[in-house]
Amino acid sequence: MLDIKIRKARVGDVEPILELVNSLATDQVMLPRSPASVVEKVRDFLVAEVDGVFAGCGALAIIWTDIGEVRSIAVAPEFQKLGLGRRMADELLAEAETLGLARVMAFTYVTGFFEKLGFSVVDHASLPHKVFNDCLNCPKFNKCDEVAVLKVLREDEDSPERGPLSLPLAGVPLPRIR
Ligand SMILES: CC(C)(COP(=O)(O)OP(=O)(O)OC[C@H]1O[C@@H](n2cnc3c(N)ncnc32)[C@H](O)[C@@H]1OP(=O)(O)O)[C@@H](O)C(=O)NCCC(=O)NCCS
Repeated sequence: MLDIKIRKARVGDVEPILELVNSLATDQVMLPRSPASVVEKVRDFLVAEVDGVFAGCGALAIIWTDIGEVRSIAVAPEFQKLGLGRRMADELLAEAETLGLARVMAFTYVTGFFEKLGFSVVDHASLPHKVFNDCLNCPKFNKCDEVAVLKVLREDEDSPERGPLSLPLAGVPLPRIR
């Protein structure tokens, strides 16, 4: 039986994460990541291991106080369809719940996978503007062909349909710039 382990990423995982994500990106199935972006965000990542061998990765980015994003979820071809993608996604969603996030979204080409995890396809325009911050660095900026998917973890009674703007940080004073 295979020994499958899902764990938080360490800096030593940066190289295999980059190799996997960027090799899949050359096949046009996901977007590439720069070394700096993975190093800086390594605390966002989970890693899957099979019999002690690196087999996949996935990250949860916090976008705003009410929404997170699953990013760079990938399983090496030889380990796909073994349930690793689901196990990593379930852990990322559990982390989102622990953090108190009400919604989690992703941009993807594999809507079928995300639909199996309870996500639904949504219009890009229904997402908060902040989600698109990273799009500025994307090679497909202005010609995005990824599908937006969203999973609601908690319905907030006061704002069932918030539309394109995220919750403001009410009552938080902004820093004064002199
Ligand atoms: C998408 C990916 C992460 C799925 O990982 P995986 O470990 O192979 O998936 P799992 O075995 O956990 O599958 C979970 C469920 O999703 C389904 N699924 C997996 N890949 C799918 C796909 N491409 N299309 C439709 N459904 C898919 C599985 O059949 C399974 O359904 P089941 O539970 O009813 O049997 C993996 O195929 C991958 O790395 N693909 C290339 C990179 C990519 O596209 N990443 C997403 C970028 S956002």
